[in-house]
Amino acid sequence: MAKENIQNSWKKIQLCKRLYSYLVFHYPLLILVLFCMALNSVLSIGRTALSKFLLDDVLLNSPKSFFRNYGYSQLEILLGLCTAAAIIAIFLGITKFGQDYLHQYLIARVTVDIQNEVFHHLLYFPMEFFNRQKVGDLLSRFTNDMNMVQISLRYLYGDFFLQPITLITAMAACLYYSWQLSILTFIIFPAVIVPLVQMGKKIHRRARSRQMGISEVTQEMQQVFGGIRVIKTFHAEEYQSKEFQAKNEHFFRRAMKVQKSQAMAKSIIELLNNLGLPLIMGVGGYFIIRGGLDLTPGDLIAFIGATALMFKPVKSLSKAYNGLQEFLAGVKRVFELKELPKDPSYSEGNRKFPGLKKKMEFSHVFFEYEEGKPVLQDISFEAKAGEIIAFVGPSGVGKSTLLDLILRIYHPKQGEIRIDGVPIQDFELGSYREKIAVVGQDPYLFHRSIRDNIAFGRKDVKEEDIIKAAKAANIHDFIASLPQGYDTVVGERGVMLSGGQRQRITIARAVLREFSILLLDEATSSLDTESEKTVQEALERLMKGHTTFVVAHRLSTIKNASKIIVLSEGKVLAQGTHERLMEECEFYRNLYEMQFSSSPSPSTSITDPNK
Ligand SMILES: Nc1ncnc2c1ncn2[C@@H]1O[C@H](COP(=O)(O)OP(=O)(O)O)[C@@H](O)[C@H]1O
Ligand SMILES: [Mg+2]
Repeated sequence: MAKENIQNSWKKIQLCKRLYSYLVFHYPLLILVLFCMALNSVLSIGRTALSKFLLDDVLLNSPKSFFRNYGYSQLEILLGLCTAAAIIAIFLGITKFGQDYLHQYLIARVTVDIQNEVFHHLLYFPMEFFNRQKVGDLLSRFTNDMNMVQISLRYLYGDFFLQPITLITAMAACLYYSWQLSILTFIIFPAVIVPLVQMGKKIHRRARSRQMGISEVTQEMQQVFGGIRVIKTFHAEEYQSKEFQAKNEHFFRRAMKVQKSQAMAKSIIELLNNLGLPLIMGVGGYFIIRGGLDLTPGDLIAFIGATALMFKPVKSLSKAYNGLQEFLAGVKRVFELKELPKDPSYSEGNRKFPGLKKKMEFSHVFFEYEEGKPVLQDISFEAKAGEIIAFVGPSGVGKSTLLDLILRIYHPKQGEIRIDGVPIQDFELGSYREKIAVVGQDPYLFHRSIRDNIAFGRKDVKEEDIIKAAKAANIHDFIASLPQGYDTVVGERGVMLSGGQRQRITIARAVLREFSILLLDEATSSLDTESEKTVQEALERLMKGHTTFVVAHRLSTIKNASKIIVLSEGKVLAQGTHERLMEECEFYRNLYEMQFSSSPSPSTSITDPNK
């Protein structure tokens, strides 16, 4: 148990060190901010000395006055004090700026640095990661956990550095004004600290429970509005409203508990703090009247001022310590992302991919997404340069997966894919993917302008090339008819366009590349007959002169194919031209008859004829 605790603490210290390393990276700014903070707190405490000298040297003209021993007159001292007060005021103002703005700047800078780093790292994760990881979870790591990183940074360098400085300066000031009263105060000081720390822990626990309450309420809202159709259908509005009220009540009670303990803690501190006052006032005042402690009225007033400044740092430190315990969990989750390995394909190959010159071979390729659930088994076939290879088979058989293997999104568990004799993983990934164009089933556009969507990922594309690509994709006339033309922003996922328009924009995106291999995955399956025709035209233009792998659902594509690969239950059942397969393969004949000849709409997908 003890060992575990030590280990845990060690891990936390490691996390803190890691956060510090980001801060240290910006060391000039860091030093400046810390300097501002320290100066600000020292000046605030130094200001209490002004009241001492005002009282002793100027107003009371006491024999023990400090400056008068040097022969200054009361008025001279008053003038000096006013000047000092003005200078302190100016520096307090300047350092306040550093303390507030530069401090926030540094924290935000480091948080953004970490965020950028993690984001960059995430993009290189293997596809499997994104299948497993829910997008919601990733987003929450990016928002909530990053928030925790930010707060931890604030605690780690703001509070952990600054508060001890303030505390020590305040204590030193107390000692300077009266060491006897200081000893008295330092004895009663823990009486305030101990309950303070205890309360801090309790508040912290309750705050966490309140936080859980908040997320329960938001989850409930998400669920309800996501399923609003079901709720309306079942006329469950009142029921849902009651459920929500119950959850919200629960949250309310938890939130009030936090408020209550916070208010309690505050009043107790005030109480103890204020009870210290009569004690110090009594003892100090008594000795000033009777003499004996070498205490002046100015000392007493300044002393009381300095003790008041001792409490805040302790309160902040205990808050920072408790908070850090919780927020480090978020920091850990963020850094966990950075620890995950990148997709090895990014670093595997180093040969520049020149394009497919002679042929591509699949040799005994096996693949599975999850252990023990094979998707593709022993796939072997050959494609010559310039050929059109069509994959047909029931839905779920693994056609899209095959294309992903070619694209190196996933990697065979066994077997090899070779291009012109070279295993594809030996090619440098960037140069390899550059030479492959993909038009998928579900065209994905980004919430950017049409121009950026076509030029996607490339900066130096000429306007005329974009227009040429759009013309080849049968979409130029449409784009030109839009009021903002190529600058039109298409809405999230391209919602402002029809399926056919979106698809033609992704085709234009493909045209722009100097690719050698084309992958088409049921590119027209979700379109109506009319837009299918225009898309198909564009696709045929695109296929010319390139080796094409196509997941086919259209008769014409199949008839044009140089070779059809028939897949069933993850295996290659037969391969050959349409005519030969019609003669020799019953499975294919059935598929063909079900799907391609009898069905009037080409958009229904193939189903397993055996089922
Ligand atoms: N990301 C994934 N994780 C786990 N299983 C998957 C994933 N993608 C597809 N599959 C499964 O792999 C099989 C093949 O899918 P897919 O290649 O999309 O088939 P097709 O394109 O022929 O319809 C299906 O059973 C599907 O459920
Ligand atoms: Mg598919």
